[in-house]
Amino acid sequence: MDQANSLREIVKTEIHQQQKKARINNLPLSKGSNLPRVIAVTSGKGGVGKTNIVGNLAIAFSRLGKKVMILDADLGLANIDILFRIHPHYNMGHVINGEKALSEVMADGPEGIRIIPAGSGFADFTHLTEGQKLNILSEFESLEEMVDILLIDTGAGISSNVIYFNLAADECIIVATDEPTSITDAYAMIKVMSSRHGTNYFKILVNMVKDEMQAKMVYLTLSKSVERFINDVVLEYIGFLPTDPLLRQALINRSTVIEMYPSAASSAQFCALANNLVKAPARWSSEGNIKFFLKRFMDYKAASGMTT
Ligand SMILES: Nc1ncnc2c1ncn2[C@@H]1O[C@H](COP(=O)(O)OP(=O)(O)OP(=O)(O)O)[C@@H](O)[C@H]1O
Ligand SMILES: [Mg+2]
Repeated sequence: MDQANSLREIVKTEIHQQQKKARINNLPLSKGSNLPRVIAVTSGKGGVGKTNIVGNLAIAFSRLGKKVMILDADLGLANIDILFRIHPHYNMGHVINGEKALSEVMADGPEGIRIIPAGSGFADFTHLTEGQKLNILSEFESLEEMVDILLIDTGAGISSNVIYFNLAADECIIVATDEPTSITDAYAMIKVMSSRHGTNYFKILVNMVKDEMQAKMVYLTLSKSVERFINDVVLEYIGFLPTDPLLRQALINRSTVIEMYPSAASSAQFCALANNLVKAPARWSSEGNIKFFLKRFMDYKAASGMTT
């Protein structure tokens, strides 16, 4: 695409954004500003940068004075443990089978961030008695005081567990890159969540691009397909992260880029993104706290009757 065409596309994106913003403003505002915010970071395709985004955003939020917790629901290899140099011994599976208390499975990450390793624990909810579920819910309730923002690293794809985490969270950030398969897989996720579960609002974050222009092209491609084939869905472009060799370098050293190279291009973008998210009013339609997040997750699983 030539320069003039690209600029025309960007102007179209800007107009598109304005229209979307008007629709976003009509969505319900959160009921209480001091309730913890539960944000799922997800993607259709794997390997698009979710875990790095969760780790770096967590640190950026923490530096803004927020109490941050991560639910590590990504069972992949390059997970948050590596980025945060932690070695958790237990996971939610131990809480669910009654071996450990929630406080015992939480791991301490950098800068006061706490991590709950999900392990395969969340697959087992359907086997629990009502009494066991209530115990776990009340343990989660005790987290309310300790958390301003709970970030969920969901793993990729449209498997039922990923979808339930996204549905149960208050906000869902879908990460996409400019790879065509990443865009079509993001579309597939939006399609499943909107048509089967009625979710109509998603935040879009574009990773591993050259600049904002390229990021907006990705957003535009995705929103054009969504607009054409899915009714009543609002996609909000929330920003981009550049392809940054320093992020990879930090990863090799088992560190987030924001800790190791604070003046790197991607570190600046992570800070700006965290700032914008904190400033933007959260919009959700439910109670918006951690206990209710877990309750919603359990309800989705029970309704599906599935164990995976
Ligand atoms: N902004 C970036 N700049 C350069 N490289 C990046 C960037 N973001 C991610 N990467 C690279 O992409 C790889 C995948 O990132 P990451 O593990 O965070 O993705 P993921 O979406 O969590 O993957 P999975 O779906 O397997 O859980 C990393 O190893 C890193 O090298
Ligand atoms: Mg990951």
